[in-house]
Amino acid sequence: MKALVYHGPGRRSWEDVPDPAVKSPDDAVVRVDCVTICGTDLHILKGDVATAEPGRVLGHEAVGTVEEVGSNVRTVAPGDRVLVSCISACGRCRYCREARYGQCLGGGGWILGHRIDGTQAERVRVPFADTSAYKLPADVSDEDAVLLADILPTSYEVGVLAAGVRPGDTVVVVGAGPVGLAAILTARLFSPAHVIAVDPAPGRRQAAAAVGADVLLDPDDDVLARVRDLTDGLGADVAVEAVGIPATFESCVELVRPGGHVANVGVHGSPATLHLETAWIRDLTITTGLVDTATTPVLLRMLAAGQLGVTGLVTHRFGLDEMQDAYDVFSRPADTGVLKVALFRGA
Ligand SMILES: NC(=O)c1ccc[n+]([C@@H]2O[C@H](COP(=O)([O-])OP(=O)(O)OC[C@H]3O[C@@H](n4cnc5c(N)ncnc54)[C@H](O)[C@@H]3O)[C@@H](O)[C@H]2O)c1
Ligand SMILES: [Zn+2]
Ligand SMILES: [Zn+2]
Repeated sequence: MKALVYHGPGRRSWEDVPDPAVKSPDDAVVRVDCVTICGTDLHILKGDVATAEPGRVLGHEAVGTVEEVGSNVRTVAPGDRVLVSCISACGRCRYCREARYGQCLGGGGWILGHRIDGTQAERVRVPFADTSAYKLPADVSDEDAVLLADILPTSYEVGVLAAGVRPGDTVVVVGAGPVGLAAILTARLFSPAHVIAVDPAPGRRQAAAAVGADVLLDPDDDVLARVRDLTDGLGADVAVEAVGIPATFESCVELVRPGGHVANVGVHGSPATLHLETAWIRDLTITTGLVDTATTPVLLRMLAAGQLGVTGLVTHRFGLDEMQDAYDVFSRPADTGVLKVALFRGA
């Protein structure tokens, strides 16, 4: 079969690799019908993720059709249309028993397209299929469903739920890439008073407005003053960091009110400063996290019921064999206006 293989920093190719097979009784082999690319794949390609070794098939988000299952698999069967989640769960370890699948100790966690071969291929082996693949309702499209493999649960869990967004809150989302946009979308589920999006790219601010941000700011604006204007001088109830650089984390800490919550979603490659000399007295809560995907079933139900407005997040569509073109477009958002790409298996 064909797959997108990482060959070390800056090097990827769409090439022939052996077909995956069931290796453990808990595995399923899934034919990939729709797949996307994540910012994290670009991090791997830059060489930022040392645990992803050359030779790895990338990708941790897909919708597909089960072709084969191991002898222990009970909940999915050949022919089923499934969501392949970015997080695999052994279902048995201490963290899995608490639905904290991202921290799985039994061989799961973020493994697809990282420690084992991933979804940017014609087929993928899905370990722990019972607890890591989700049967899809017929009325959910492949393109909408694939957004629930990573960005929707990430923003919802690590951003909105971790921060405890409540009705009437003022929520600042710093960074309006796919993850920030999904945070805006899912913050809206709680009827906040304001959702303020901060991003330097005008196209991203426009996209933020389309998913429900009512105040759009450039980081060069006086963001703190604008947030205080909207909150009786106090600051935001919640700030979601969705960029992954020191400046945006530090800005989030400054933007929340005393008693407020900073939810860090961004993946950081260098240390950021926590100004405890001013923060210690402000009753702040700061959370970090890797997505668990424990909310995937809930998000799927909302999607099926038409209660999750994901339309517009996929901006560019390709055939699976146009993988390299899709990477080229996805890695140049300023030129291409891309948010998420979707690649589909040929008829
Ligand atoms: N915690 C998790 O489990 C998890 C999962 C997936 C992705 N992530 C991380 O979330 C982050 C966002 O992902 P994405 O795919 O949306 O990335 P992205 O690169 O597409 O988006 C980042 C956005 O931040 C904006 N930005 C840059 N500098 C800024 C600044 N100073 N102020 C405000 N905005 C600024 C960019 O214009 C861009 O729109 C990344 O760090 C990614 O690795 C975390
Ligand atoms: Zn991802
Ligand atoms: Zn586990």
